[in-house]
Amino acid sequence: MPGTCVIGLQWGDEAKGKLVDILTEDHEIVVRYAGGANAGHTVVSGGQTWKLSLIPSGILRDGITCVVAGGVVLDPASFIREIEGLEGRGVTVAGKLLLSDRAHLVFPWHLAEDRILDGSLSGGEAIGTTGRGIGPCYRDKVGRSFAIRLGDLYRPGFAAKLADVVAVKNRVLSAWQGDGAMPLDPQAILADSLRHAERLRPFVADTTAFLLDAVEDGRRLLFEGAQGSLLDVDHGTFPFVTSSNSSGLGVASGSGVPGRWIERVIGVVKAYTTRVGGGPLPTEQGEPVGVHLRERGREYGTVTMRPRRCGWFDAVAARYAARLSGVDELAVMLLDVLSGLDELRICTAYEIDGARTTRFPGQIDDLKRAIPVYESLPGWHEDISGARTEAALPANARRYVARIGELLGRPVTVASVGPDRSQTIVLGRSRAAPVASHAPRTPAPT
Ligand code: IMP
Repeated sequence: MPGTCVIGLQWGDEAKGKLVDILTEDHEIVVRYAGGANAGHTVVSGGQTWKLSLIPSGILRDGITCVVAGGVVLDPASFIREIEGLEGRGVTVAGKLLLSDRAHLVFPWHLAEDRILDGSLSGGEAIGTTGRGIGPCYRDKVGRSFAIRLGDLYRPGFAAKLADVVAVKNRVLSAWQGDGAMPLDPQAILADSLRHAERLRPFVADTTAFLLDAVEDGRRLLFEGAQGSLLDVDHGTFPFVTSSNSSGLGVASGSGVPGRWIERVIGVVKAYTTRVGGGPLPTEQGEPVGVHLRERGREYGTVTMRPRRCGWFDAVAARYAARLSGVDELAVMLLDVLSGLDELRICTAYEIDGARTTRFPGQIDDLKRAIPVYESLPGWHEDISGARTEAALPANARRYVARIGELLGRPVTVASVGPDRSQTIVLGRSRAAPVASHAPRTPAPT
């Protein structure tokens, strides 16, 4: 069976992009299946840094087909900027990128709705969205009446449909914003859409059919998760989530490839925890640990540049995410960021209203009241960014990684000690794991 998935097990930004880049070598097709321009990943390749959003980093290599599947929401203007940014730096995109005609489009009204509505949860709390129109676009998808998909741009009834939708959206926006609302200009939006349609035409395809053919032909597929499992709309920390199935559960619905084709699921965690935006983060730290993590880990959003909230590794949350996403093995990223801390803590349970539990709560008010129960481990002071083997890591770093594996009940097969591809350590018995798609699933000794 040909599919590998890389899934984040926290609240996003787990450095999945680096792992995907390494794994791409052993795959033929890389698939982005959910989310939109809310995601950003940074890849260091060939001595250059690349910041990508919707286009899989496989685009930087020859011989890889990159698929943006039907489960994503696509802002055409920002997507075209991404293509042109790559082409401007000499990357060939033509012939390597397929874009699903089923993908729903983000329009200017979605950006406006995102801006107006975030902050209107009951109690006035904000989700702290990325402002990229993600929630409003998925809402229209599920609501159906006002949704427009990429394939619609090429249909004869498009101009009429767009005019109908803009008329409704103008009424909705003025109801929300009052008389000062700037009406959307249907002619300008039509002209932009037709221009975008022509620019994107060479990439548009029935990617569902393409991927189903690919798995039946035994081609090797790599599915690249966006955001993290705890932001999953159905199983994450609702309502402080994104609007798609960002856990491993979204692979099948977003790509159209049934889960039975997935052979290997790699769960990616940071060696600590971060979150950007609103919502509870039980292990969050201020001075001095939170600041150490933010500054050493350069924890500022790739898309919004917002400082990320930082805290200790939360094994209760990550274990839940690993189970939810059906994870076989783990990659622990940004381990080098912990260097210099005397003591490290891992949250192994929560105390909620005086009762101790290792279960991740399904209700947000329970999570808000959760007090972390910590286990303490000794830290290390050595700079580990030059370590290339498990043996080159300080004993305390090895112990820390092993403990994460034990608590999550999965072998840790990769530890990352810096952004470069070379700063990657393969652990335990699954020595070939990060580059071999059919690596044994036997747990590595931890
Ligand atoms: P939205 O996806 O823009 O609607 O944002 C919903 C929540 O998900 C907010 O807390 C965002 O900060 C968070 N979020 C969305 N995309 C990412 C991501 O790629 N990394 C981390 N957090 C994200």
